[in-house]
Amino acid sequence: MSAHPTSPETGDSAVPETVLIVDFGSQVTQLIARRVREAGVYSEIAPFTQAEAAFARLKPKGIILSGSPASVPEDGSPRAPQMLFEAGVPILGICYGQQVMTHQLGGEVRPGHETGEGGEFGRAFLTVTADCALFDGLWDVGERHQVWMSHGDKVTQFAEGFDIVATSDGAPFAVIADEARRFYGTQFHPEVVHTPDGGKLLANFVRHVCGMAGDWTMAEFRKTKIEEIRAQVGGGRVICGLSGGVDSAVAAVLIHEAIGDQLTCVFVDHGLMRMGEAEQVVSLFKNHYNIPLVHVEAEELFLGGLAGLTDPEAKRKFIGKTFIDVFEAEAKKIGGAAFLAQGTLYPDVIESVSFTGGPSVTIKSHHNVGGLPERMNMALVEPLRELFKDEVRDLGRELGLPDAFVGRHPFPGPGLAIRIPGEVTKERCDILRKADSIYLEEIRNAGLYDAIWQAFAVLLPVKTVGVMGDSRTYDSVCALRAVTSTDGMTADVFPYDAGFLTRVATRIVNEVKGINRVVYDYTSKPPGTIEWE
Ligand code: XMP
Repeated sequence: MSAHPTSPETGDSAVPETVLIVDFGSQVTQLIARRVREAGVYSEIAPFTQAEAAFARLKPKGIILSGSPASVPEDGSPRAPQMLFEAGVPILGICYGQQVMTHQLGGEVRPGHETGEGGEFGRAFLTVTADCALFDGLWDVGERHQVWMSHGDKVTQFAEGFDIVATSDGAPFAVIADEARRFYGTQFHPEVVHTPDGGKLLANFVRHVCGMAGDWTMAEFRKTKIEEIRAQVGGGRVICGLSGGVDSAVAAVLIHEAIGDQLTCVFVDHGLMRMGEAEQVVSLFKNHYNIPLVHVEAEELFLGGLAGLTDPEAKRKFIGKTFIDVFEAEAKKIGGAAFLAQGTLYPDVIESVSFTGGPSVTIKSHHNVGGLPERMNMALVEPLRELFKDEVRDLGRELGLPDAFVGRHPFPGPGLAIRIPGEVTKERCDILRKADSIYLEEIRNAGLYDAIWQAFAVLLPVKTVGVMGDSRTYDSVCALRAVTSTDGMTADVFPYDAGFLTRVATRIVNEVKGINRVVYDYTSKPPGTIEWE
């Protein structure tokens, strides 16, 4: 089913001007989508196996073929649907995309080990040898430019109609172009930041080569989505679970703008929120937006059930199940609903292309309202499924949500329970809330909040000996965590200076009864995860 409504007059789908990105399983395919959107053009990613259907649905004005860990000369490696090359639409092939296009159009690609030259990985310089529409206004003949290469195989004979327009030492076919068909291939990756002009090259492709206006904005998105939500929901009722996070809040405000009081929000307060968080959510929705909100105070239920549980998965499962039970009971109380709204994001719905096959292992059971739509026979309303996290923040601002709310760090569904290894009690939640709020206050005071993806305190089930004044103390250890990340899938440790950490540690030990030692977690992801459980 299309995510876009159909216009009654024309029968055309109300899809904005779109670039179709055909994914062959590269680690950085999502970056192509982001760069294209940064150029003001809407883009969608489709696995190569579904590219033909996506082409029919989206009617794209440009196509980009991604990189891949696969090797074109190897049997069984992925191919683009041949019809894409006959559709009269401009194509840019990146790395594997260049090679697969060359191969499918009659040229030759050979494995690095056969050419005896090996691959090329990392920073490289290319020289522009001819003009081409991709370079217009950007690169001139004779110039050298830094690019990022990551390839073993290479094109050894280009297909008919193509010319070389840039070369590098390791890739004589660094950029090839068939201006008549408007097909281009780059051996390097323009989507990564290590190709400094990469974003501009991609913008040139979508705007100059494909002729798209570049007017895809959040204001436009908001209008289109409101129409779509109205078309999907009709006169039905929608329930939305608020978690306190940005995604569900933005989804709720957008849906409310579309259908008004047909939407009811349910906020299940499990008592595992941070300091002041529940009050903020309730006041924002009730007072600021006047959105019907059911506030369920369920702290006792959750903390009662968590008593005695110490295994991280047991804690997560209990919270997930109880959340759904409470949510379902509330939904029934308000007379049920035909639709459940969720703040699902694009990275959650992109189907990843796997070459290894087999299911991936469960690292953690993520908490959401999974299972509920089937149980209650509800359809899903997911207005953010095409957006990246930073785009959701833009949309939130567009909808008038306060900056301080929109820019908030992510917070996990199971809340503080997974930041208190061992048994969770109200007393330990209160101790952690205090330490966490001091830590975040200092981060804000130092102007570091926006530079950090996520920062929080963890309360450890370990007691150590300390001395305060002349007395011995025997209290808990608090760990501080701060990471940078783009999507939470991988993360680096935030490099605080020692003075900052000393200040936070001193304040926590002095101001929070129950903590007498503070440590900083220096583990990246992988091998660590961001949360401790
Ligand atoms: P991990 O700990 O898996 O976390 O490295 C990655 C990101 O996901 C968040 N997280 C969750 N978010 N429900 C959520 O909504 C969950 O159950 C959950 N567990 C982890 C985590 O805070 C980080 O941003």
